[in-house]
Amino acid sequence: MTDLNAFDHHPRTRLVFGAGTLEKLGALASDLGGSRVLVVSDSGIVKAGHAARAMQSLQAAGLETQLFDQVHENPSTRDVDECVAVARDFRADILVGLGGGSSMDTAKGCNFIFTNGGRMQDYWGVGKATQPMLPLIAIPTTSGTGSECQSFALISDEETHVKMACGDPKAAARVAILDPELTISQPHKVTAVTGIDAIAHALETAVTTKRNPVSALYSLESFRYLRAGFDRVLESPTDQEARSFMLLGAAFAGTAIENSMLGAAHSCANPLTAKFGTVHGQAVGLMLPHVIRFNSERSEIASIYAAYGEHLPEQVQHWLRAAGLSVRLAELGVTEADVPGLAAGAAKQWTANFNPRPVTEADFAAIYRAAL
Ligand SMILES: [Fe+2]
Repeated sequence: MTDLNAFDHHPRTRLVFGAGTLEKLGALASDLGGSRVLVVSDSGIVKAGHAARAMQSLQAAGLETQLFDQVHENPSTRDVDECVAVARDFRADILVGLGGGSSMDTAKGCNFIFTNGGRMQDYWGVGKATQPMLPLIAIPTTSGTGSECQSFALISDEETHVKMACGDPKAAARVAILDPELTISQPHKVTAVTGIDAIAHALETAVTTKRNPVSALYSLESFRYLRAGFDRVLESPTDQEARSFMLLGAAFAGTAIENSMLGAAHSCANPLTAKFGTVHGQAVGLMLPHVIRFNSERSEIASIYAAYGEHLPEQVQHWLRAAGLSVRLAELGVTEADVPGLAAGAAKQWTANFNPRPVTEADFAAIYRAAL
């Protein structure tokens, strides 16, 4: 009980959880006071029928609707600009982000520029929006990023490919609808990589330098749900109770991130994604056991991990294998010659600042080597 870091916890997002809660979208949007709702989503979500159901609920509540279905994975500044153009034409006064983290991030990015002008780069960092922003409703269809509970949009610079974290308390969703039925349609591979990412969020937020009494609650509760759900959703994708565990676990981990940031496994992952195109969850999950071992050399950190179970690195590797993911960097085509470049990239990541054990470029090289 020593993690008494100061905190400022202001829940900004109303959470509405339960099977079938998508039906409440129209009423929830009406409560927010607008009349013209732009739904931001992607083609897969449209095909699954979720976008049509969302629009029907909004229209039944007497609201005007417009669909933007051009969201791409790892959304870029160009994706955001296209969404802003649609929002302007339509004169949107409420935004809905329906889909995975990419849809919610695109909706948030659109909100910054549509309401505050300029370009995405102007909002890189925290608290750069001076004008009020539109109310946003976030509806996740995967259980991963926890973006529905965060005030950050992750947007890639179209030219430099640098991922910018653009955060502002006003960008947080006013409402998040957590409907487990929406997560059943996701492909197995998406369940696997987003689930591992959520597990990494629970375990990284548990130990960061910014961990505090509130984040600790969310990290541990998140992990309990994810541990109960992950093997089950991999084996039985239609198991609604297990889907609920994953959805709650991912959302609570998102709240933990909002309070305590992330650590070195996320720092290691970004250079792998940039250089080798490795999917985020695969990269984070592969590096996580090695970061846990590195951090565990500090006894006070080892004692926090102990609350999450014994043999955590092995447990994470078990989940990677169960999910059909790689456990070694060599399987991704990474060689010893790549290590210095990766380590230099990892040391520059913002998240590296919050790792509980200070981590130098040489430490990152050792962590990558351990994962080869
Ligand atoms: Fe992540």
